[in-house]
Amino acid sequence: MDWILAMTYLWLKAGHIIFVIFWMAGLFMLPRFFVYHQEAEPGSAENALWVEREARLLRIILWPSLVLTWVLGLLLAYSIGALAEGWFHLKFAAVLALSGYHVWLVGYHNALATGERRLSGKQLRLLNEVPGVAAALIVIMVVVKPF
Ligand code: HEM
Repeated sequence: MDWILAMTYLWLKAGHIIFVIFWMAGLFMLPRFFVYHQEAEPGSAENALWVEREARLLRIILWPSLVLTWVLGLLLAYSIGALAEGWFHLKFAAVLALSGYHVWLVGYHNALATGERRLSGKQLRLLNEVPGVAAALIVIMVVVKPF
């Protein structure tokens, strides 16, 4: 019985890490797409191509990876009783912030599709610091568990 529980935990964790990698890859790619998209004239054929590419990245990579990272992460948390631990609370806050960033990117994609260009290319490049910093904090919490 202990053997089955231990194997379940390891498979859940493997799945969790796989979908974390896909999610993070998508979060780094989408703002790069925005940089090129913004250079296209609103209403042009090139603009429509970028809208379609971004929508596909969201549909095939970003949304499924977010959902599976959350589901597998919550199952892991439940299986090791992490819900009451300090490191988990900070990790959870950082994951909420990352999910908020994901939703903000969806909003920016919708705005770009209607011809709005709210940020400069430089500001969009700087945005890539957000998932980087959040991922570093999350990995330190889950591996070092400092409190
Ligand atoms: C709702 C979202 C999430 C929840 C509830 C969650 C929860 C968990 C839990 C409970 C573990 C097992 C920890 C252990 O066995 O000691 C874990 C492992 C891990 N998580 Fe998450 N996680 C989430 C999202 C993320 C994100 C967004 C990242 C990275 C950016 C991430 C990175 C990792 C890594 C690298 C591990 C493996 C750590 C190790 O065993 O050495 N997680 N997660």
